[in-house]
Amino acid sequence: MEDKRNNEFPESYPMTGGVGAYSYVQNSKYQRGYVEAAKEVIKEAIVKKFDINCLSAPLNSIFVADLGCSTGPNTFLAVQNIVDAIEHKYQLSEDRDEIPEFQVFFNDHASNDFNTLFKSFPPKRKYLAAGVPGSFYGRLFPKASIHIFHSSNSLNWLSRVPKEITDKTSRAWNKGRIHYTNAPKDVVEAYSTQYAMDMESFLIARGEELVVGGLMALLIASVPDVILSSDFTICTELELLESCLMDMEKVGLISEANLDSINLPLYFPSPKELMAAFERNRRFSIEGIQELGIQDKQLNLQSLTLTLRAGLGGVLEKHFGNNIIDEVFDRFSKKLATTPTLLNLNENQKTSLLFVLLKCKPND
Ligand SMILES: C[S@@+](CC[C@H](N)C(=O)[O-])C[C@H]1O[C@@H](n2cnc3c(N)ncnc32)[C@H](O)[C@@H]1O
Repeated sequence: MEDKRNNEFPESYPMTGGVGAYSYVQNSKYQRGYVEAAKEVIKEAIVKKFDINCLSAPLNSIFVADLGCSTGPNTFLAVQNIVDAIEHKYQLSEDRDEIPEFQVFFNDHASNDFNTLFKSFPPKRKYLAAGVPGSFYGRLFPKASIHIFHSSNSLNWLSRVPKEITDKTSRAWNKGRIHYTNAPKDVVEAYSTQYAMDMESFLIARGEELVVGGLMALLIASVPDVILSSDFTICTELELLESCLMDMEKVGLISEANLDSINLPLYFPSPKELMAAFERNRRFSIEGIQELGIQDKQLNLQSLTLTLRAGLGGVLEKHFGNNIIDEVFDRFSKKLATTPTLLNLNENQKTSLLFVLLKCKPND
């Protein structure tokens, strides 16, 4: 039996579960903006590019998977957009009038709070639903079984923190930083190499699982260039967070060793890096790649702090324990109050949302 590599990637950093004040469910409106921004392009992509003939008769069902679904609710919106678009495509088509059944797979790490997700499935959904735990950097589905893959806000998470950056003997040791923002070249390279390897694993797995003619719609936060500096809003946020942790280290709330060993497994690829990964893989044709504008970027101090906490609270908690998390984000919101530019993303956002549409080609 071929190695499906599902268990090779033990690192996972799920969003904060449940439906409480700090949960992803309550604090993912910013990410929802991405899904909303992509609604029309995905609809158009499906109408123009989805090949109804890629369904295998007599099964005649459409299998859709959302990768990195978290606990909701954005995943439900994304999936509904896809189902509506396919229905619309059938309505436009002359020779196929019977709309097939939809089976939707919701994927995330096994440590994701799937119970919260399952409890909030929309009651009137037009699809059958199932959860699929496991890393999307490995195989998740049988060969040639999925017609449409979707993923939003998830392909910025690396499968792991690059090894070298926690190795004191390495030139890439990332002492005193929690990310590669404004870091030396070796650190940036370690991150970008990890991303390239992860994308390769991701594309190999999806290339096996998609039917020929199947589509993959990806929404990825991206930066114009490989080098990150605090010119990018997300990086300034991470620097602020880093400075809060450093302050806490100075007053003895966390140890120097503990601070030095934390690194966020987040990466913001440039369009060029992504194109290179797709071209290396060769299993997909690039049907579209475009930057999307995000409509609602109005975050206030509280919502920005809570959004970051819902996303990164889990990583910090895993590393430092849960006693310091309130303190970290208290300090973060106080610092944020003195950095008002971060709150006006319309003017200051240089991290963009990239929409990529890939189509699975026949094997060479
Ligand atoms: C920011 S949330 C995005 C959730 C949702 N797609 C949205 O747009 O609101 C990122 C999700 O990706 C998941 N994720 C990250 N790496 C993953 C991996 N290798 N395999 C499966 N899920 C992963 C995380 O656990 C998290 O739930």
